Amino acid sequence: MYRMGGSVVYTLYGESHSEYIGGLLDGIPKGTEISIDTINTELALRKPSAGIGTPRTEPDDVEFISGMWDGKATGERIHYRIRNTNTDSSKYDIFNRTPRPGHADLPALVKSPDHRIKGGNQFSGRLTVSVVVAGSIARQFILQRGISVAAFTRSIGKIRDDEERTFEDAAQSKRFPTKAVTEDLDSLMRDEILKASAEEDSVGGIIECIADGLPIGLGGTWFDSLDAEIARAVFAIPACKAVEFGKGFGLAGMRGSESNDPYYYDDGIKLRTNNMGGVLGGMSDGAPMVFRAAFKPTPSIGKEQDTVDLENMEDAKVKVEGRHDPCIVPRAVIVVESMTCLVIADQIMRETS
Ligand SMILES: Cc1cc2nc3c(=O)[nH]c(=O)nc-3n(C[C@H](O)[C@H](O)[C@H](O)COP(=O)(O)O)c2cc1C
Repeated sequence: MYRMGGSVVYTLYGESHSEYIGGLLDGIPKGTEISIDTINTELALRKPSAGIGTPRTEPDDVEFISGMWDGKATGERIHYRIRNTNTDSSKYDIFNRTPRPGHADLPALVKSPDHRIKGGNQFSGRLTVSVVVAGSIARQFILQRGISVAAFTRSIGKIRDDEERTFEDAAQSKRFPTKAVTEDLDSLMRDEILKASAEEDSVGGIIECIADGLPIGLGGTWFDSLDAEIARAVFAIPACKAVEFGKGFGLAGMRGSESNDPYYYDDGIKLRTNNMGGVLGGMSDGAPMVFRAAFKPTPSIGKEQDTVDLENMEDAKVKVEGRHDPCIVPRAVIVVESMTCLVIADQIMRETS
């Protein structure tokens, strides 16, 4: 079991090939309206798209065990689970002997000699199905407080969207399989994925996430900071390798006179720019919260790679057969949103409890 949050506490359980994957969500206030249709719509956004995702398909039917009644949270623990129906571990045996570079195989096998690789085990992207259910519940809670979250694909491989994008652009991206914001970018990004896939390879990319409607001052200090909590939650998503807020690494090369976001008054305190990504001192500053997360290329690839044979401790080769996403990014967009909603819901409830 893996846990996050202080007042809205999310617990994740399951493995890639276990009978069920599930979640426990504590702290969602009694009476919060929760639509199962909305949860299902968001789960559909995590499913692989034809051609650019893994051929492993799952119905992702969510069974609620407790905490929901008549479309509302009862205030008790919300417990749900999703059955895994499409599990085939046969292709993975070989990785117990010749671990896949870039995946968790080697550290997991060395750490626990009785570990047996079945799919991605607890490291699998499949577990994000649970994150999306919890995130959707959290999203419905924060929406009722005027806060909305939307993410989109900023880049895939060498194809990068360099335009300024708004919350509405991010929300519209769900029309396209790659979650890019325009049809042209979607087509270029799709080609980039298909090209890598045809070469038995994979590509990574960048997801940008925007949270709108945060009141000034939401968040905490030091380890409770809004940005620290978001970074922790988003880094927990398998294959995430970087998170930056606002201009992020770009701020390092700026002068303070360029980077500071000046204030002005217009029916409330506003910011002229948003270089900080909407967070100051661990609290929201009134601008939309904007951050980007980089996802590495999928580690499991058909191309032959160097590894070590753990039985005789000699150099060896490994090729990955089986069902894998040539690019994780399109499926991870909703997962990044979900993590963001969970952190914001938790921050709201920390302030009220
Ligand atoms: C939605 C999603 C789908 C994923 N699909 C795959 C996949 O098909 N094959 C694979 O090797 N890794 C996949 N991953 C990534 C691995 O789970 C991840 O790289 C691995 O557990 C090692 O963890 P790390 O990359 O965070 O270090 C996926 C991740 C996510 C978020």
